[in-house]
Amino acid sequence: MLQEASYLDWNNSIKILNKAYQADLFVLIIGTKGTGKTSLVRDFAKSLDKKLESINFSLRTRESHLIGTKTLTNGTVSFDEGLLIKSMKEGSILYLDEINSSEPDVLLRLDEALDDRRQIILKESSGEVVKAKEDWFVIGTINPLTHTGTKELPPQLLSRFPVRIRLEYPPENIELEIIKKHVSGNHNSEIVQAIKLANILRQAAAVEELFYSPSLRETIAFGKLLDCGMSPKESASIVFGNVYTQWGNIEYQKVSDIITSMYGN
Ligand SMILES: Nc1ncnc2c1ncn2[C@@H]1O[C@H](COP(=O)(O)OP(=O)(O)OP(=O)(O)O)[C@@H](O)[C@H]1O
Ligand SMILES: [Mg+2]
Repeated sequence: MLQEASYLDWNNSIKILNKAYQADLFVLIIGTKGTGKTSLVRDFAKSLDKKLESINFSLRTRESHLIGTKTLTNGTVSFDEGLLIKSMKEGSILYLDEINSSEPDVLLRLDEALDDRRQIILKESSGEVVKAKEDWFVIGTINPLTHTGTKELPPQLLSRFPVRIRLEYPPENIELEIIKKHVSGNHNSEIVQAIKLANILRQAAAVEELFYSPSLRETIAFGKLLDCGMSPKESASIVFGNVYTQWGNIEYQKVSDIITSMYGN
């Protein structure tokens, strides 16, 4: 097994995060799936040697996940702090992943904590006022609205993240460098070809000719299968082709033909 690969900062995102941290301005990262949002934030937290508290938002996320809940043990009521409160008190980095996939009302309390006073009143815990430590920092991510299940972020919440980083799929040569951080073998020309294939599929998906757009996860997986001795043609079918069966045979055949034209029968 390879160690967890370090982040390749190909568009200066770490520098922007550092400046934002210095200026005490919260950051929103906007990017489609698998463009490196989570690995960027992990690497940034590690570089500062700061603790990272993460919440992965979904339709099931409730206010109590952020704020906390009252618990009753042996007749004593105590308050079990949610990650927002915990991170404010610790002064850690709070990572709010895919904020726009939750119900907007869950986000109301975030407005309060993230405004310039950086404090929140805990009506759940007898009105305690929680004030964030000086070095508390918040980074959110959103997926573009084309992703199923995503909602528009309410403007007042958007405005609490005045630094915005856009992440796209990287240019071909950089994608190759990223993949090389994750794989050990030497299969550059095969990987370059897989990146070309991925880009053809991404472009087709962007104009809605296909239902699915492969991410960096797939191009990395392709490289890993080559490392394990699989042939490029078989890896391409397994990683890039077969998934389209989900949308039926015609969709699958379209991609299968592209793979055959690139890798032969
Ligand atoms: N710049 C990079 N340097 C090194 N690895 C990267 C980079 N960008 C992406 N990766 C790798 O690509 C994969 C996907 O990245 P990651 O999970 O960070 O994406 P994400 O944007 O958080 O995706 P999602 O929206 O699906 O959560 C991971 O294996 C990650 O290590
Ligand atoms: Mg992620």
